Amino acid sequence: MKKQKKILVTSALPYANGPIHLGHLVEYIQTDIWVRFQKLMGHEVYYFCADDTHGTPIMLSAQKQNKTPEQLIEEVHKEHYRDLTLFEVEFDNYYTTNSPENKELSETIYLRAKEKGYIYKKNVTQLYCPKDKMFLPDRYVKGTCPKCGAKEQYGDSCENCGTSYRPNDLLDAKCALCGTKPVEKEEEHIFFKLSAFQDFLKEWLTERVDESVKNKMYEWLNQGLKDWDISRDGPYFGFEIPGEKNKYFYVWLDAPIGYMASSLNYFRKTGKEYLFGEFWNETQENKTYVYHFIGKDIIYFHTLFWPAILKSANFRTPSAVFVHGFLTINGEKMSKSRGTFIKATSYLKHLDPQALRYYYASRLSNSLDDIDLTISDFILKYNGSVVGNFANIFSRCAKLLERLNNQLAKNISEEGKQLIQFALKHKNDIIKFYERRNFQRVIRTIEEIGSEINRYITEKEPWVLIKNDPQKTRQIITDIFNAGWILSIYLYPVLPSFSKGIWEFLNIPVDYTNNFNSISDSIEKQILLPPNHKIHQYRHLATRIQKEQVERMFLEEKQEQQTIQEKKDIDYITIEELNKIELKIGKIIEATEVEGADKLLQLKVDIGEEKPRNVFAGIKKYYKPEEIIGMKVVLVTNLKPRKMKFGTSEAMLLAATDDKTLSLIIPHKDIKEGSRLS
Ligand code: 2FM
Ligand code: ZN
Repeated sequence: MKKQKKILVTSALPYANGPIHLGHLVEYIQTDIWVRFQKLMGHEVYYFCADDTHGTPIMLSAQKQNKTPEQLIEEVHKEHYRDLTLFEVEFDNYYTTNSPENKELSETIYLRAKEKGYIYKKNVTQLYCPKDKMFLPDRYVKGTCPKCGAKEQYGDSCENCGTSYRPNDLLDAKCALCGTKPVEKEEEHIFFKLSAFQDFLKEWLTERVDESVKNKMYEWLNQGLKDWDISRDGPYFGFEIPGEKNKYFYVWLDAPIGYMASSLNYFRKTGKEYLFGEFWNETQENKTYVYHFIGKDIIYFHTLFWPAILKSANFRTPSAVFVHGFLTINGEKMSKSRGTFIKATSYLKHLDPQALRYYYASRLSNSLDDIDLTISDFILKYNGSVVGNFANIFSRCAKLLERLNNQLAKNISEEGKQLIQFALKHKNDIIKFYERRNFQRVIRTIEEIGSEINRYITEKEPWVLIKNDPQKTRQIITDIFNAGWILSIYLYPVLPSFSKGIWEFLNIPVDYTNNFNSISDSIEKQILLPPNHKIHQYRHLATRIQKEQVERMFLEEKQEQQTIQEKKDIDYITIEELNKIELKIGKIIEATEVEGADKLLQLKVDIGEEKPRNVFAGIKKYYKPEEIIGMKVVLVTNLKPRKMKFGTSEAMLLAATDDKTLSLIIPHKDIKEGSRLS
């Protein structure tokens, strides 16, 4: 048996201010499959993650919702954990970056780096919003692109022409929160001397990332690395920098340290604190393994900043960083308005999580290419392979074996051995493909095995045979179920509950089959399932997806987004703005028709001032002059006087209208003219 390895695996930490969506799930499912595979190989594997909780957007999100950041991140943490585990993503620990362990480690790392001379201070000029009293991160400044002139662009890059710039370069920059013109302000920031790690990183990258990632990073390195600004002035939700006033670690400093913190929290609470050192001490670089799964948008944080930071503080660096592409839906970017920005919760309302796991696996390889969720393919793949191929192996035979007392034969037949051999001969390929994260190939290989087993069933026609030769039927089904059982082990990392369902049906404990090594042991002995084994009643393993389920999911998501958008589109006014409008009660003392105007009545309205106001009101169609004389009404009395053909209008009457009629707004109790509305 091969030597057992100690492996620590992470997925990127999701921000704590938004729900988990199908895009996130590519990575968590990918990581989970790989972790389950490594565990199945018999290695000692830990899978850690956490919520990424610090930074300006989370602070502002909380403010908007009238919550403290702590309240917000606690709620989101629960939701994230619930959603991810419902997709059978099985963490050893799902923690938070706002933790005492993370504070402790961030401080340690910072102080070690500082002691070694990798930290210094420098003044930077940044945009500051005088109204919100804060420095504005790039994404909180909007304005016109200096290159192409596109309006409403963010402070970091233009979505129209792709140019990157500094927020100060935007023409007519404004604060994205309140619209105020920001001012430039100098501020002292703390820098990490990334440039000192140029040579180290060049060397480090050679063995830790795939070729395409390495080439990308070399482009950066060749331009020369700039030092990294790791501080933000308050107000900021994060950890205060030791020895400084009102300075906080920039969220991207403490986020990856969150990987270590999640592990520290877990190792402490499970009484294995020694493992923290075994994984993270500098001396462990070649003895234990640390792997990060990330998306291609955060490569340089993980392959430049992060290894340099670890190195500066005498911690080990990652063994490898695995990068995947983005998710597209039907070939297009996910879009809220098109309803393709599908939240995990929306998916779960309509569809089985194992269908998504299977589909993603069938698309994933170790490349940076985007993964497309083509809906027609998704349905075809699940219905064809999981329902039509794998589940079919068991459902086709289960009823027949029931008639034979659910009991298997003593041994595998000579012919059956060939079928099982077919399943077994792919084992090493499957291991190799899993190991290299080439899940596409894993799936294709398992599908081939499934098809072969189904072909065998069709050829043997056990439903015909059972009429004349029940013992032979029992034998054939025994052979088939043994082969199907091997298939279920291969499939387990991708579809854990599906495989467990098969083991439950086959009446074998989960730990009977818990690693790839035991499969090879069994074949040498030519025994797989126990002799004369009695299995359980068949229970449904997978249900076909109907096109309508998917359509309903998209429709509901789209409708929900529309409702949210409509709420956002309301142009709220502040109480101060409302107070600007002067509303008073007035008494109509004169009303006359206006010659030459078919809609207007001319009114004299007493609002408690010396002189009545002259008002032209478009109410002729609905009121006769004599009807309204003496009536008390509500008026806007500080509207700028409006010169009209017939004279000047000095106030405006309030009225409500629907399609059919118009009604003046009148006080329902008698109240003195000139009274102000409150
Ligand atoms: O890009 C993101 O969503 C970040 N929250 C990922 C952080 S990964 C790690 F560094 F913490
Ligand atoms: Zn502002």
